[in-house]
Amino acid sequence: MTGSPLNIGIAGIGRMGSHHAANLAHRVVGARLVAACSPVADELTWARDALGVAHVYDDYARLLAHPGLDAVFLVTPTTLHADQIIAGLEAGRHVFSEKPLALNLPDCLRVEREAAKYPRQKVMIGYVRRFDPSYRDAHEKIRAGAIGRPFLARSQTTDRNDPGGFFVRFAPTSGGILLDMSVHDIDTVRWLLGAGGAKRVFATGTIAVHEGLRECGDVDNAVATIEFGDGRIACIYASRTMAHGHDTQTEIVGTAGSLTVGRNPRLNRVEIADAHGMRNECTPTFYERFAEAFLLEAQAFVDTVREDRPPPLTLADATEATRIGIAVTESLRTKRSVEL
Ligand SMILES: NC(=O)c1ccc[n+]([C@@H]2O[C@H](COP(=O)([O-])OP(=O)(O)OC[C@H]3O[C@@H](n4cnc5c(N)ncnc54)[C@H](O)[C@@H]3O)[C@@H](O)[C@H]2O)c1
Repeated sequence: MTGSPLNIGIAGIGRMGSHHAANLAHRVVGARLVAACSPVADELTWARDALGVAHVYDDYARLLAHPGLDAVFLVTPTTLHADQIIAGLEAGRHVFSEKPLALNLPDCLRVEREAAKYPRQKVMIGYVRRFDPSYRDAHEKIRAGAIGRPFLARSQTTDRNDPGGFFVRFAPTSGGILLDMSVHDIDTVRWLLGAGGAKRVFATGTIAVHEGLRECGDVDNAVATIEFGDGRIACIYASRTMAHGHDTQTEIVGTAGSLTVGRNPRLNRVEIADAHGMRNECTPTFYERFAEAFLLEAQAFVDTVREDRPPPLTLADATEATRIGIAVTESLRTKRSVEL
């Protein structure tokens, strides 16, 4: 199908889905956003009016039945991903789903089993950092031996504090800070270190600002240590209370050097020199930091389908990220190390 555009329907056009929808409608080569689905009427109106999406549905089954649909883009709450991926495959569609694959292991394994029954249909989970140009460059340099044998990673995903506490309302269905945020770092460090499965993890955390999280057992700052089966180790930090902005960074240490992505979360190349010193502005949210990567990710999915290539990351990778995410979440809760 290399020549013809891919007819895509998007399910979920909220905070993240509206960005994906705009990319698919206007910027991804070889994609045609033909339909959108959401239970929220205002979101469907936005898709129709702002993006010119011709067909809108308030029900996912009806989206899947849209004539001529090739693929679905799932940007729905994580609790729906597994069932919606499987329904998409059963309807004969290729599937992109936002991360994480699921919040529990049986759902991840169920998706892997079902996907194996449809080998001609692609399933790709959106671990966006794998498409960020800086992370890709780091990956290529590490694979080329630039820092010797990589054996240790330090990685963080930290958000600017939102005094309105949006995420406090979102927390009960998110899986918790380590499964929602750090799952990105978990996937990234496995990829950059070339590590397989984990054998032991320990995590702890604290509520620095948002007491409302206590009710659902979550925290707003957490750290985790992961020991992989081959002896490599990773330290991970997640925060929702940064003062300066969204700050994602990753350091990989090897036997012949180290390499860091994003040490200064700069918004752009402007530096201000004044009575307070030298400084630059920071990326306010994850979206400004990864806008280009989200576009490249969607392009990679469309190219994967149109050129009939294997997806750049496997469902097994996505399952492993969830497996480790669940283990660190359990450790955070029990304050004990967890063996995998
Ligand atoms: N890759 C990243 O960096 C990143 C960033 C943010 C969110 N996400 C992921 O994106 C997903 C969505 O997160 P969000 O922040 O956009 O949430 P959101 O609540 O803003 O949006 C969810 C959307 O799903 C729709 N929806 C709910 N039930 C539905 C159903 N049954 N069928 C179809 N649509 C349905 C809602 O109407 C809404 O449009 C989550 O899995 C989250 O983990 C990923």
